[in-house]
Amino acid sequence: MDALHDEQALFDAAAAARLQAYAPYSKFLVGAALLDEAGRIHAGCNVENAAYPQGVCAEAGALSALVLAGGRQVLAVLVVGAGDIATQPCTPCGGCRQKLREFAMPGTPIVVADPSGLRRRWTLAQLLPESFGPEHLAP
Ligand code: THU
Repeated sequence: MDALHDEQALFDAAAAARLQAYAPYSKFLVGAALLDEAGRIHAGCNVENAAYPQGVCAEAGALSALVLAGGRQVLAVLVVGAGDIATQPCTPCGGCRQKLREFAMPGTPIVVADPSGLRRRWTLAQLLPESFGPEHLAP
């Protein structure tokens, strides 16, 4: 699959995951999809909780699915959330940027889309500059 097809497949997976989101408190549905090193796509949705801080972001759910499937690299990220893509794109929260950092590269694309498919794109390094990662702990 070429990059364009990958991105469309990622959008389709994230948009479908978004429709499964459990977000009764914020009503803000999010879906995320990750491309792994084997070309597989792993999706997740946000899962909120009555004890609000226990809610989990879509990106975290997708990362769990990737790791469970044996994936260890994130080659591309696509997040679908509502909001004006020009002014309020649903970029990953700070915690999720760090979670993605564990398995991604500085140049890994993070594409944010609205449900209609309009997109904006960043790299991980743009969203999380000067970041701390596994290599900092290497002997
Ligand atoms: N949320 C995500 O799942 N991913 C993001 O990138 C931003 C925010 C969720 C968390 C919470 O369930 C809801 O969106 C509102 O913050």
